[in-house]
Amino acid sequence: MDKLIINGGCPLKGEVRISGSKNATLPILAATLLTDETCVIRNVPRLLDTHTMVKLLKSLGKRVDWDKDRIIVMSNGPVNPVADYKLVSTMRGSICVLGPLLTKLGEAKVSLPGGCVIGVRPVDLHQKGIEALGAKVTTEGGYILARAKKLKGARVYLAGASGPSVLGTANIMMAATLAQGETIIECAACEPEVEELANFLNEMGARIRGHGSPRIVIQGVKRLHGADYRMCFDRIEGGTFVLLAAMARANFVIRDIDYSQLTALDDVLGHIGVRVQAERNLVRVKAPKVLKPFSITTYPYPGFPTDLQAQYTAIMSLTNGVSVIRDTVFPDRFMHIAELSRMGARIRREGGSAIVEGVKALSGAPVTASDLRASAALVMAGLVAKGRTEIRRVYHLDRGYENIDKKLIDLGACISREKE
Ligand code: UD1
Repeated sequence: MDKLIINGGCPLKGEVRISGSKNATLPILAATLLTDETCVIRNVPRLLDTHTMVKLLKSLGKRVDWDKDRIIVMSNGPVNPVADYKLVSTMRGSICVLGPLLTKLGEAKVSLPGGCVIGVRPVDLHQKGIEALGAKVTTEGGYILARAKKLKGARVYLAGASGPSVLGTANIMMAATLAQGETIIECAACEPEVEELANFLNEMGARIRGHGSPRIVIQGVKRLHGADYRMCFDRIEGGTFVLLAAMARANFVIRDIDYSQLTALDDVLGHIGVRVQAERNLVRVKAPKVLKPFSITTYPYPGFPTDLQAQYTAIMSLTNGVSVIRDTVFPDRFMHIAELSRMGARIRREGGSAIVEGVKALSGAPVTASDLRASAALVMAGLVAKGRTEIRRVYHLDRGYENIDKKLIDLGACISREKE
């Protein structure tokens, strides 16, 4: 396993480019199971999670060629309906092969992904959705078994106690593309990645409208064909670099970012005194000497993203007051608190909230990354802390940030990677 060594305080300047969206790539790759024709996906980020999804597609019987940022998925004989535990357990995103396998083959056996450090993460909404479309669903030996000769369109209310489900919406939308008749998903997730998936499916010949809103309507079609699609930029990677620029008082340029997808973040930045200049796909950040504290609550899109909560907690640890950070999407997503505290941050947890008392400076320390976004928060803290920070278990970071070491080194960061 690798660890990152960061010597904090090096000035960051220049330009960074944001990669293609991880959370759009995963369901779009799963959607290629809906056709026997060839699909070409461009601007794909080279990440551990993308590799896992490619491995999963191959294990299901697809042929996949991956050249730089372009993936070509081709037919390689019959597709098998079993998504194995070994692959699904390493990445929750694998659950989104359930809908495509079921609707295309009439059956699917997909390992239950299990929990992870950010919370329990059930799949009841995925199950509820495919049952509403007429599938018979059972759980056996840690696998979801779903069967239906032909799915039938239905009206599905798809929110749970914490609101809509992003991958749940993706799964049901994909299942409904080849179902008989009309499906209406009420309280669908509005995340841009769901819109991106719907656009890809429509390119394949699906008839979907309303995506991007809480009511998605899908008219089933007989078959889908291949498509050639260019992935949007990763809004969470983009938001992470915006927060890093503000935290480090750096005015590097962020390129290939769709800032219109970060309205909630932009609003919050205004409250803490940060100004952002955005034009087309380019952003510059200007932060004051002292940041103001501001409390936030995470919500499904277009609310403040839970995937930027840890990074925002890091920046709030360096303000001149107290802020409260509440996560309604994943109320247990606070593993970064203990590690940031090792670097001198003053944070305590109360239920689903973190209470952050700003300090003047952080100091480098050995810390351990617990999950993807918590790792990003630790990197940000390490880059502005006094002295040396060692971050263990950085493979989490490699799941979601493409070439992160190189991007940071190019900005002037003193960062290196070593084997543990
Ligand atoms: C996706 C993102 C993840 C992001 C999350 C929320 C991918 C690959 N991952 O995960 O980065 O943090 O959206 O924006 O796109 N829930 C249920 N029952 C279900 C499914 C979910 O109760 O069947 C709950 C979850 O526990 C959570 C909430 O719904 O509290 C939202 O989860 P969901 O949107 O499903 O997250 P993912 O789609 O897995």
